[in-house]
Amino acid sequence: MKKIAVLPGDGIGPEIMAEAVKVLNALDLSLQLDWADVGGKAYETSGHPLPPATLKLAQEADAVLFGAVGDWKYDKLERSLRPEQAILGLRKALGLFANFRPAICYEQLTHASSLKPELVAGLDILIIRELTGDIYFGQPRGRRTAVDGHFPGAEEAFDTMRYSRPEIERIAHVAFQAARKRNKRLTSVDKANVLETSQLWKDVVIEVHAQYPDVELDHMYVDNAAMQLVKAPKKFDVVVTGNMFGDILSDEAAMLTGSIGMLPSASLDANNKGLYEPSHGSAPDIAGKGIANPLATILSAAMMLKFSLNLPDAAARIESAVQSVLAQGLRTADIWSEGTTKVSTREMGDAVVKAITTTKTIKS
Ligand code: IPM
Ligand code: MG
Repeated sequence: MKKIAVLPGDGIGPEIMAEAVKVLNALDLSLQLDWADVGGKAYETSGHPLPPATLKLAQEADAVLFGAVGDWKYDKLERSLRPEQAILGLRKALGLFANFRPAICYEQLTHASSLKPELVAGLDILIIRELTGDIYFGQPRGRRTAVDGHFPGAEEAFDTMRYSRPEIERIAHVAFQAARKRNKRLTSVDKANVLETSQLWKDVVIEVHAQYPDVELDHMYVDNAAMQLVKAPKKFDVVVTGNMFGDILSDEAAMLTGSIGMLPSASLDANNKGLYEPSHGSAPDIAGKGIANPLATILSAAMMLKFSLNLPDAAARIESAVQSVLAQGLRTADIWSEGTTKVSTREMGDAVVKAITTTKTIKS
């Protein structure tokens, strides 16, 4: 029996996770679901955002289904105890270096984008973000008294941006292989006009490209990429970039689809073990109100079935059930518009379950 660590976390995490679990249960897949606290919730119950028991559960599981972490009320805690450390700690400890963030504009939601409908209609891009290196994890980092620079003697803080050749090689392979399965176009994003890490990144991506001559590769500076994403997003197919740039660009790409409440993500290790989470955050402002959109988490569960559990048929059933509820006009508040039916978090989950079970009846 496959084991899934279910980590709902903070804010809207528990509400959206309840719906994803409902959907998984409706599929009768004989999965063992083990729940644990993470993030601010875990800090409250056991004094650490990623308690040893939660980490152990995640390490022993075949996949991790993650809700969201974070709340402003923890902003004053020392950094190592803040909720965000849970997700960073899981990425590092599980070696989840390859982060897949699809940005898809659903046909029914074209008007929900902040861009003109014709710019985003049919948009389907994939951002692949390196997730365990770069300035996020680079040592040394800290605070000290400056001995040089513009203000010697002043308090200063510093982080280290670094990438090694093997770290770049492995994410480049992942990206070329993903591009191969799509439209065979890969854009590598860097800041090689300024940064040493980016120059190495670019050199290594060019070298790895020799093994994928069927994929068209281009390079873009990150500032230009940010601009092109709002100017002509459909020109992109797969984008590969480092941890910091990928954090920023993936939020930008998700938002321009108008469907951030619907976008799943996967973070994979070298053996396709993965952590699956919605692309959106914990949204503490709407937590507990029953209005959050559970579809991103439900679709993350589908991604989990496909990538880590080798159950593509079950994943497809979830995906077509989601298409079906959208076609029925059901919308949570974030994607609601005139002429559609506003539903709660729970009603949306129930509708997906119903679509799954109805399809099953027709098939059998
Ligand atoms: C994300 C988030 C995280 C990140 C935070 C919560 C640490 O913004 O998954 O994009 O910066 O990676
Ligand atoms: Mg982010």
